[in-house]
Amino acid sequence: MDSPIPATMHAAYLTGHGGLDKLQYRDDVPVPKPKADEVLIRVGACGMNNTDINTRTAWYSKNVSDGTTAEGGTITAGAATWGGGSVSFPRVQGADIVGRIVAVGEDVAQDRIGERVLVEAWVRDPKEPENRNLAGYVGSERDGGYAEYVAIPVVNVYRIESTLTDPELATFPCSYSTAEYMLTRARLGEGETVLITGASGGVGSALIQLAKRRGAEVIAVAGATKVDEIRELGADSVIARDTTDLEAAVRAVAASGEVDVVADIVGGKRFPILIELLNRGGRYVAAGAIAGPIVELDLRTLYLRDLELWGATVMPQGIFQNLVGYIERGEVRPLLAKTFPLADIRQAQTEFLKKRHVGNFVLIPG
Ligand SMILES: NC(=O)c1ccc[n+]([C@@H]2O[C@H](COP(=O)([O-])OP(=O)(O)OC[C@H]3O[C@@H](n4cnc5c(N)ncnc54)[C@H](OP(=O)(O)O)[C@@H]3O)[C@@H](O)[C@H]2O)c1
Repeated sequence: MDSPIPATMHAAYLTGHGGLDKLQYRDDVPVPKPKADEVLIRVGACGMNNTDINTRTAWYSKNVSDGTTAEGGTITAGAATWGGGSVSFPRVQGADIVGRIVAVGEDVAQDRIGERVLVEAWVRDPKEPENRNLAGYVGSERDGGYAEYVAIPVVNVYRIESTLTDPELATFPCSYSTAEYMLTRARLGEGETVLITGASGGVGSALIQLAKRRGAEVIAVAGATKVDEIRELGADSVIARDTTDLEAAVRAVAASGEVDVVADIVGGKRFPILIELLNRGGRYVAAGAIAGPIVELDLRTLYLRDLELWGATVMPQGIFQNLVGYIERGEVRPLLAKTFPLADIRQAQTEFLKKRHVGNFVLIPG
């Protein structure tokens, strides 16, 4: 039988913008009470994402022009979340939640208690779910899964049937839904060629699997030490990130010498090369800028070649539900790089920022 729900729990608090010292592991955090339309989840595992660090360091602030770093750039209180608002502290971060429902609000069916679930992190306005300006992210605009328990609106909570472990399932939600949204926005189709940057990371490795699932030809760019692993994951060609002439390397392996789609989470100085590689009418989609958000664009290339540029963050409804199906049918596989006890969150972030891993890091509460 399940143990009773305690009054307090272990959780990691983010206490403000700044360095790792702003993360505090506590044993006296009140267990949230689910509102009428919410469920209470006992967290089995919660995946880590760059947004945890970007939020801590206020990287989303327009004052910052560098890539993501451990300490970030100039810290400003305003405009610090990806929604553009400010964060209220203390905040429990953690978007990639896997666990079991242990209690429900008064409007939720009691028989959902006991379900094994995955959480979709975009929480929409119940009256205007299609209004993306009203959406907030779990772990950013509301408390997330770096805790033993979390309360989440029931519409965001998906039952999952899978033989995968909780840490394996916790690699999927943020990275894979973002990647699927990127490919959906760019309309990547069967037989097309896609160039993927940051291919060894959470989103990049998801992009590879989801692009192959669509029947596309994948050219991936990854750190030199990770090339073999990325090829094993299904990429048709892998180019080491430190290649001096990236453009020539891609042209050499692309069937037509150019690509239909670029799915980019890196940005930075090499952005002009990515744009140059697109064929006429080609589509570029970005969901991150880990190497730097300020890039150079020759507008002549954009309009003379009829290109499309897309951003991908607040995804339409349906993408996450589809992802749950892909997981249940074994169409994507987890790349669990390492797990850490939640108590070691500072060490986990320090290692995560070294980017020596392939796939995702996951924290285990309790
Ligand atoms: N818009 C959204 O909804 C959304 C959702 C998820 C993530 N993101 C953003 O997307 C980006 C990637 O996320 P992720 O979870 O895939 O990250 P990740 O797991 O940390 O992977 C990022 C990868 O980028 C590569 N990279 C290339 N240039 C780099 C540089 N200058 N510094 C560090 N790494 C570099 C590294 O791989 P190699 O060593 O193999 O090159 C690294 O492993 C982040 O900026 C994140 O904030 C956005």
